[in-house]
Amino acid sequence: MKNYHSYDEAYNRSINDPDGFWAQATEAVSWVKKWGSVVSSPKPQFYRWFEGAKMNTCYNAIDRHVESGRKDQLAIIYDSPVTGIVKKITYGELLDNVSLVAGMLAKAGVKKGERVIIYMPMIPETLYAMLACARIGAVHSVVFGGFAPNELAIRIDDAKPKVILSATCGIEPKGAIPYKPLLDKAIELSKHKPEKCFIFQRPQVKAELTPDRDFDWEEALKDAKPAPCVTVAATDPLYILYTSGTTGIPKGVVRDNGGHAVALLWSMKNIYNIEPGDVYWAASDVGWVVGHSYIVYAPLLYGATTIMYEGKPVGTPDPGAFWRVINEHKVKVLFTAPTAFRAIKKEDPSGSFIKKYDISCLKYLFLAGERLDPDTYYWAENFLKIPVIDHWWQTETGWPIAANCMGIEHLPVKAGSPTKPVPGYNVQVLDENGQELPDGSEGTIAIKLPLPPCCLTTLWEKDDAYVSSYLETFAGYYSTGDGGFKDKDGYIYIMGRVDDIINVAGHRLSTGGMEEVVAKHQDVAECAVIGVDDQLKGQVPVGFAVLKAGVSKNPVDIQKEIVSMIREQIGALACLKDVTIVGRLPKTRSGKILRATMRKIADGKEYSVPSTIEDPAVLGEIQDALKKVGYPKK
Ligand code: COA
Ligand code: AMP
Repeated sequence: MKNYHSYDEAYNRSINDPDGFWAQATEAVSWVKKWGSVVSSPKPQFYRWFEGAKMNTCYNAIDRHVESGRKDQLAIIYDSPVTGIVKKITYGELLDNVSLVAGMLAKAGVKKGERVIIYMPMIPETLYAMLACARIGAVHSVVFGGFAPNELAIRIDDAKPKVILSATCGIEPKGAIPYKPLLDKAIELSKHKPEKCFIFQRPQVKAELTPDRDFDWEEALKDAKPAPCVTVAATDPLYILYTSGTTGIPKGVVRDNGGHAVALLWSMKNIYNIEPGDVYWAASDVGWVVGHSYIVYAPLLYGATTIMYEGKPVGTPDPGAFWRVINEHKVKVLFTAPTAFRAIKKEDPSGSFIKKYDISCLKYLFLAGERLDPDTYYWAENFLKIPVIDHWWQTETGWPIAANCMGIEHLPVKAGSPTKPVPGYNVQVLDENGQELPDGSEGTIAIKLPLPPCCLTTLWEKDDAYVSSYLETFAGYYSTGDGGFKDKDGYIYIMGRVDDIINVAGHRLSTGGMEEVVAKHQDVAECAVIGVDDQLKGQVPVGFAVLKAGVSKNPVDIQKEIVSMIREQIGALACLKDVTIVGRLPKTRSGKILRATMRKIADGKEYSVPSTIEDPAVLGEIQDALKKVGYPKK
């Protein structure tokens, strides 16, 4: 792979000569057949990377490393403080395990292009499952274990999996969360029914299997034969990952095989400054994009060792958990969400747990998933004394859009900015008419098409929704949904979403989706859910409900019912704890709820009364209602 000597050299080449830039990056991939074109456009606004090329992602992530002498190198270190297990898996063992799971799927009739849903916790089998799908060309869709049956059912109906892979439980610090009842309920709710489910029985929870549909994972493996890699087109889908949109219908982000491998491999050296054989730890969950890209695919494609951590930053058992793992497994790069650091900082403000461990092996801390607040940045930098790198990305892109590329050039850090666009991304700040704004002016951040490799190619079976969600707002650009600005040095500042998406503990959630659930409550006439600032989780949702005329039920009961509806229909991770009952909602004369103004009131920020408001007095009522549930929290 070519080494660039400066950020400007790499960035300018990627924009002025994308074909040359990315053609060179493809040298890191083992192809079955070389591409015909680097980037092509089968129809207006749609782009394909490496059309004509053939390959297999699992071969690139496992087999080729075994063939080239990494058989006995560690591929995965599974560290699970919630079960007390540490398990080390070499590339050779990974090949055997993944080939067998691939054989189990092939025996169940799963073919290239067919979908497999994976609803599993942070255990090595989940990683085998993902790679096994890639091995046989099946398209996986991992659903985060914290989602409730209703959310899983929506994904089953959209992806239409032939098979679902699951385990009997996830383990949270408060105890085991049985998954099988959630899976059964989801399949009951979904219109599409999978032909088979394979259930991995964890020792903490044993589950009864549904006859003719469920099969014991380990029993099935006994009957399976190792399956070889199936060659796929670079443009074939590798996976679908659902993410929150502005409504209750999640978006099925489609990732291809070839572009994904090329960009992730490029990122390992150029952004994270990792060498094959180094230990890389993304402390996230495989249910999220960070987990897909940087727990599973990128480290393995690159021949590094990845850490799979089944625990939390605090409470498993203490705020020294991260430092213990770094020390024990010689981690070179840690990647996590700022919320994890806020949790550690809250319990150990003086960094006393850091001092207990020798973590001199740690060279970089990368943070993403939400805004990195300067307090957390300075705290981490002060105690770790290594570069702390904020980088900005989305499920849709699969890898960073803006970062300080540590393998190219360490640019000066500006607290509050994820630095500059990563090579390949032509990032612009636009006004509402799609005109590029001058430095310092805030607008919507958009990326000029084509997006670089690895970014979504469409939404699963919804080309029209892909266009209307991302490409229609600004002709020729992908709209990120984030607002912000660039400074005079080209540094990007992300100021928050311009839509109804919120970020709770690094998890992306839709307030629109929550409103759809609250509106279903029999006593609710109308409602609003907003995201308010939270010291630990970045944001948390707060609900407002106007009751139907004549409802005499105790409002406290209604509040509790709404909170439990959100838990049952979206999941505990939504963290909706506060619901206030109000007489009316603030609206414009045309009936639009003034959520942004409500947000400012809840956050204790200054706000101006919108000129379009129907009745300004309602803002005072909202302020009083919020006070009763403790907002603003200052
Ligand atoms: N399965 C089932 N339930 C889950 C779950 C899972 N995989 N993950 C979270 N939950 C549940 C929790 O048990 C909790 O339930 P509760 O309300 O009954 O207690 C709820 O969802 C909220 O969980 P969480 O967001 O983990 O909050 P917390 O207060 O328990 O912990 C942090 C706070 C900051 C420690 C935690 O959010 C954290 O580790 N964040 C890092 C996030 C991250 O890595 N994001 C990835 C993006 S890079
Ligand atoms: P997700 O798709 O879940 O990864 O969430 C993507 C969203 O998280 C982005 O659109 C941003 O709003 C937010 N985000 C991710 N990384 C950052 C960052 N470094 N700074 C600010 N916001 C971020």
